[in-house]
Amino acid sequence: MNTPNKAFPENFAWGVSTSSYQIEGSWDADGKGPSIWDKFTDQSGKAWRNQHGRIACDHYNRYRDDVALMSQMGINAYRFSVSWPRIIPEGEGTVNQAGLDFYDSLVDTLLEHQIEPWVTLFHWDFPYALFLRGGWLNPNIPTWFAKYTSAVVDRLSDRVQHWITINEPQCFLELGHHTGEHAPGLRLDLREILLAGHNVLLSHGRAVSVIREKSKRKPNIGWAPAGPVFCPATNKLDDIKAAEKAAKSIFPDTIWNNSWWVDPVVFGSYPEDGLRIYGKAAPKVPDSDFDIIKQPIDFFGCNIFQGVPVTMSSEGTPVAAEQAPGQPLSLYEWHQAPESLYWGPRIIHEHYKLPIVITENGLSSGDQVNRDGSVHDNNRIDFLIGYLISLKKALDDGVDIRGYFHWSFMDNFEWQEGYKHRFGLVYVDYQNQNRKLKDSAFWYKELIASNGSSL
Ligand code: NOJ
Repeated sequence: MNTPNKAFPENFAWGVSTSSYQIEGSWDADGKGPSIWDKFTDQSGKAWRNQHGRIACDHYNRYRDDVALMSQMGINAYRFSVSWPRIIPEGEGTVNQAGLDFYDSLVDTLLEHQIEPWVTLFHWDFPYALFLRGGWLNPNIPTWFAKYTSAVVDRLSDRVQHWITINEPQCFLELGHHTGEHAPGLRLDLREILLAGHNVLLSHGRAVSVIREKSKRKPNIGWAPAGPVFCPATNKLDDIKAAEKAAKSIFPDTIWNNSWWVDPVVFGSYPEDGLRIYGKAAPKVPDSDFDIIKQPIDFFGCNIFQGVPVTMSSEGTPVAAEQAPGQPLSLYEWHQAPESLYWGPRIIHEHYKLPIVITENGLSSGDQVNRDGSVHDNNRIDFLIGYLISLKKALDDGVDIRGYFHWSFMDNFEWQEGYKHRFGLVYVDYQNQNRKLKDSAFWYKELIASNGSSL
């Protein structure tokens, strides 16, 4: 038997990930319009301790220093998102060149440091002006999103090659439009959520077409849905089948699944079981919509933090297994499941036949600066080792994985949880905006320098 090569593939993207609202601050600088998150966090009781992203990590003013830190860590790829209301303050109409200037300069700075930009077009900071016009329920939204995409592509695509259209539709629809925990805080019914979801899928498809048509470089396009990852509870073949089956089906009464969101993009139709389970709530749409939604994409972005153990019932259906007591939890109380970085990419790759990029993976923790002035986040290093060993195993088993982006580059605003959770490799002191590399950042640096062999 061949011993697998310890190194990761050549040209593997070793990255870090962030999003605009979570780090930028400068919420109204240089002509930016308000986003739903600006307005949501203005209201008392919405985010933990009424915290907000008005200043966040002040990345808008400190991006050069932040990029220099990335470079110091040896990072070769950076996934960030563009704030739609920075580019088009009203969501549609006049383009704010000053907003584009910021990303233009960020991209230049990255390239000066040999860091490839990976641009996400939508990571939840939706223009407030469009929310007032019906938001994702407005049938014009795909056209507005296409125009916004066009403005970004026109300005950046001579240097940017990697694009991610939309981040985690399940999450912003479920938490933002159903439970109301996230902006814009709506509590819609299933029919409306699926209709909004259909518009999200159309917007994704329109954006892919715009990028293909207008890009000045050959683009590498993907998206990053938030499907759950199911892991077999044991290594019995039946449990493996249960995990595969669960990943490809709908679980009733929830929109947290892969197939409703990915089948239209890859196969050009909603899944049969979804149409049956959602019944009358499923959107009635013309077949031609799927010609818009199903645009060829180049990779599948997986945001993977945790995994659900499943086992096969005696009726041949997957059922969630008990999490073993005493397993390590993150500060979010998410179960750590290193094996999810094996099963997630493997099952998605086998089913949808697309190259995989891990667009997010990380640990929320209550890190602190220790008395010796360092941040000893051993738990994060341990997390990384376990998860990345699983990722390497998936690679060794033939899964085509092109990159790994740690969530997150630095501590940041964790939505309704405020600044409670620290996800960064870099510690941020919010009192003075000082940055400090955590032990995990030094560990990651070594790992990248050895292209994964030091694992
Ligand atoms: C996924 C989201 O894309 C990101 O914004 C968030 O901070 C992480 N999950 C952690 O919850």
